Amino acid sequence: MRKQTLAGVVFSAALLGAGITDAFAADETLRSYAEKNGIYIGAILNSQWFGGGLPSQYEQVHKTQFNIVVAENEMKFDATEPSENRFNYNNGDKMVRYAKQNGMRVRGHALAWHSQVPNWVNNYKNDKKKLLSVLKNHIDNVVGHWKGQVDEWDVVNEAISNNEPQWRGFSVWYQGIGPEFIDSAFVWAHAADPNAELCYNDYNLEQGVNPKAKAGFLLEQVKRWVANGIPIHCVGSQTHVEDTTTDKHFIGSPDSLRSLARELAKLNIKLKITELDIGFKSGINVSKSDLERQGQTFRQYLDIILEEPNADTYLIWGVSDKWSWLGGLNRQKGLIYDDNLKPKPAFDSIMVRLQNFEPPQDTSKQDTTVSDTTVTDTTKKDTAATDTVGQDTTISIAKIVGPAGLSMQLNGHTLSVKGAVSARVDVFDMQGRPVFSAKNVKGSVDLKDVSEGLYVVRVRSGSASLTKRIAIK
Ligand code: G3I
Repeated sequence: MRKQTLAGVVFSAALLGAGITDAFAADETLRSYAEKNGIYIGAILNSQWFGGGLPSQYEQVHKTQFNIVVAENEMKFDATEPSENRFNYNNGDKMVRYAKQNGMRVRGHALAWHSQVPNWVNNYKNDKKKLLSVLKNHIDNVVGHWKGQVDEWDVVNEAISNNEPQWRGFSVWYQGIGPEFIDSAFVWAHAADPNAELCYNDYNLEQGVNPKAKAGFLLEQVKRWVANGIPIHCVGSQTHVEDTTTDKHFIGSPDSLRSLARELAKLNIKLKITELDIGFKSGINVSKSDLERQGQTFRQYLDIILEEPNADTYLIWGVSDKWSWLGGLNRQKGLIYDDNLKPKPAFDSIMVRLQNFEPPQDTSKQDTTVSDTTVTDTTKKDTAATDTVGQDTTISIAKIVGPAGLSMQLNGHTLSVKGAVSARVDVFDMQGRPVFSAKNVKGSVDLKDVSEGLYVVRVRSGSASLTKRIAIK
């Protein structure tokens, strides 16, 4: 998908939610707004889904809200070639069918990785020639099987070590073949499906672009690959990050990842966020404000994908906190739906940002090739809200009627809510940060504490929900 230019953003009465109630209009979803902005938004299909072990509500949320999918484990080496030259595509085929039925893009994860390699491969660890043919045969078969159906592949995953960036030593591929396994893997994958986008994927890439950080080391390799004509098209930043307020030791920031995106743009290489989660330390009490701050961080990473012209994918490593790998990492609550598949504040932040994102006025930059895009002044995006106040005043005070008669109208600072015995009113700034909230609103609520400016207000009553942009003057 190319980033589209938008003359304006649609601010029709929008219904927020999980896509699981009648009150949720089919076209008012994360994916519908992602598509309007020309990006992909997705979540893995958790391993439990493949065995039919998840409630139907999970799949309903997944296919309603997302337009790109990747398997948590089912396209990895051990899953697809459990014994030598005997391939198992059943689960992968199931996901590809599901994706086609639901109009989703498919990511393949992952071809050459040190982890989840079946034991039989290790029998050849001292035989370079054989290991090369094992890896080539795997890539030929797996990529060939899904040729034209898997749109993009993580060809090489996590080949760089964490500290003192260098190639990861403990990898059967690195030890047995040497770093050239990487170049070869890209060449073989491209030969097997010349139309697939091919990515290098890794974690900790949001920790700075300098020679001491993984991203700096990677950037030098990407330069070399590009110079040598290795068919690489994208870098996947896994982006398994931790809330920096509850863990002061965590380094990594959206700004650092944005810097990497801009460096990659100079090389005509895309950046994708491929495995996002923003966890809290296990064992701590996670408060409402912690969850709201988490939502802002989700939004900041989304901003990179919306604003950087060579970034197009925002993929979360799970749907609900109930089915997440994070426990194994001593983290918790890192996703955008809670244990009961209810949207968390992070969902709201993402939704509000997708609804309200306005591309830069100079849209020609968005449509040019990625190498032309490093000069894009993304600060324009953050000022768009104030710029548009004048245009929006009329609609902001009109009466908006939603489902089941739920309606809202703004007069001065008074927001009147009709059609509900009691409602909850939430006000967000244009970046999706919550600024005001009132529960059990009967009839009207005074927004005098909300300072002048442009906001998004959401009214919820039971399963009915209505959102609208408002201007407070
Ligand atoms: O296959 C066995 C199954 O037979 C058994 O019943 C089950 C019982 O626990 O275990 C199954 O294997 C587990 C597998 O997930 C499938 O559920 C493994 O023990 C477990 O280690 C494995 O964890 C996966 C992990 O990769 C392995 O490295 C996680 O689910 C998966 O989320 C995680 O994903 C990785 C990405 O591929 C790369 N980036 C990091 C990310 C998170 O670690």
